[in-house]
Amino acid sequence: MKIAFIKGDGIGPEVTEQALKVLNAVSERFKLKFEYQEALLGGSAIDKTGVPLPDETIDICMKCDAVFLGAVGGPKWDDLPGKLRPEAGLLGIRKALKLFANLRPVMLFPQLRAASPLKEEILSKGFDIMIIRELTGGVYFGEKKRVETAEGIKAWDKMEYTSHEIERIARIAFCIARKRRKKMTIVDKANVLESSKLWREITGRIMADYPDVEASYMYVDNAAMQLVRNPGQFDVMLTENLFGDILSDEASMLVGSLGMLPSASLGATKVRLFEPIHGSAPDIAGKDEANPLAAILSCGMMLKYGFGMEKEAGAVLEAVNNVLDKGYRTVDIMQPGMTLVGTEKMGSLVAECIKA
Ligand code: IPM
Ligand code: MN
Repeated sequence: MKIAFIKGDGIGPEVTEQALKVLNAVSERFKLKFEYQEALLGGSAIDKTGVPLPDETIDICMKCDAVFLGAVGGPKWDDLPGKLRPEAGLLGIRKALKLFANLRPVMLFPQLRAASPLKEEILSKGFDIMIIRELTGGVYFGEKKRVETAEGIKAWDKMEYTSHEIERIARIAFCIARKRRKKMTIVDKANVLESSKLWREITGRIMADYPDVEASYMYVDNAAMQLVRNPGQFDVMLTENLFGDILSDEASMLVGSLGMLPSASLGATKVRLFEPIHGSAPDIAGKDEANPLAAILSCGMMLKYGFGMEKEAGAVLEAVNNVLDKGYRTVDIMQPGMTLVGTEKMGSLVAECIKA
């Protein structure tokens, strides 16, 4: 298996290093051979090449079996024009690799219940949600423009979807729901947005092909509220790009920290991309404080969704559980009586656990 590694900016390189450690441990334990190739993206690519997404990076990624990404962005590049910002590199690679389906599982580790701001009466019901976010369409990729008008400057971002874009992700979502609790909530704003009305029309038609999945619709404002009121009611949540971005950050807090959530992006080609959902957190970069578990769990998703290695992916999850069981915590999930560890140590603990 050939993997492209994009360390990125801020805490990206630190957490990626821990993910690599864990992958090496998996390769040792299961006698697997992974080949790594580094590629540039975001701020570090801007510094070295002048652009956030060099052509060479796309070439490298296309020739690999999977891509692992740390995180991109930072204040150093914030004043650059939109197309030259690190984020443009991230959106660009998603588009170039046609990664239209972003899987963001939100699982509660029972050991971290105290780190969640939710009340025990809600947590005790448990939850296990799979947010499926459309990743290459909608307002992120629609026309963006600014014009001078008599009333001042006018700016817009167009939220647009084709029936094809909706259908392909809906089919993936229904297939995933089939392998889970067979429940799907399609989140939209169909009481206001035309693009949401099209989502309802297309998904309504597709539903007929998956009669075993119980599907329903929910407005995004209500979904945001229901996520904190009763997260246990959700299984698969399917939604468009911007809503998925917002809801997944909200959902991450249910489990206590953004530092715990991995993601996988699948699409039209064999190359898939795996990244923690957190950003580059420039404020804590280089301080050995970042939680590497989202990156490590993203590696687990790479084994499962990238290479079909269920057993190996299971070993990663088990190791993370073990380390949490033993009371080790990074600062974002720290609780009284637990043992505080840094990024590096957390990565080593998980890796050692896999080898043992
Ligand atoms: C994410 C991030 C990105 C997004 C940013 C960095 C462009 O927030 O992956 O959720 O909005 O998609
Ligand atoms: Mn986000």
